[in-house]
Amino acid sequence: MPDTITLQVARYRPDADAAPTTQEYVVPLREEWAVLDGLNYIKDRLDGTLSFRWSCRMGICGSCGMTVNGNPVLTCGTFLTDYAPGPIRIEPLANFPVVRDLVVEIEDFLRKLPAVKPWLVREDEQGVDDVEFLQTPAQLAEYQQYSMCINCMLCYAACPVYALEPDFLGPAAIALAQRYNLDSRDQGAHQRLDLLATAQGVWACTYVGECTSACPKGVDPAGAIQRYKLTAATRTLRSVLMPWAAR
Ligand code: SF4
Ligand code: FES
Repeated sequence: MPDTITLQVARYRPDADAAPTTQEYVVPLREEWAVLDGLNYIKDRLDGTLSFRWSCRMGICGSCGMTVNGNPVLTCGTFLTDYAPGPIRIEPLANFPVVRDLVVEIEDFLRKLPAVKPWLVREDEQGVDDVEFLQTPAQLAEYQQYSMCINCMLCYAACPVYALEPDFLGPAAIALAQRYNLDSRDQGAHQRLDLLATAQGVWACTYVGECTSACPKGVDPAGAIQRYKLTAATRTLRSVLMPWAAR
């Protein structure tokens, strides 16, 4: 194995540059180094002007997502040796505007997220602090997978529908809605229906499945979307055929 590896890093300052450029850096190739370690080496030793986001270095915060050799990945969980002998191409996440270099603008996602009411909705909030809402292991298992999301947005970067339809609510927001819809303590599924069962909601998804392939936490947003399509279709049918029973 060589001692070093070349990182080809996208550089871009939208306010000053006409187009993104690529800058090459040679960093040590160490077995225990993730791509993020290579970027931090550049920042600390070679070029302090390089901009990128990261925080936890352990796949928890979701802030270090970038495009590495064409694929959206968490750079703290992707090792340099996986790409040896290199070079490795590092670009910002696709489908988001670039703020600078490898940092993307996530405003769109932050606006969509609260729209799905990602919290437990109760019909009567009074007294909720005074009671315990017990849950069986089976009830927990219903939604647990969807609760693993770290909002890294790799699924949005991987999604060809989001690339073409920026109004698409998107994989993570829908998976998060399902996390609460399927929680036995939640009573807000009918409030989320108007947003999810729309052309910008689940019906925009053509089930390419790239979101699930890209997800580093095993959330399976594509599965969440397909499952919700069934729920939405059933509820719509019920409201047409049995309006007195719909809620
Ligand atoms: S669903 Fe997966 S890929 Fe999408 S934001 Fe959540 S953790 Fe990231
Ligand atoms: S730095 Fe937090 S997930 Fe990578």
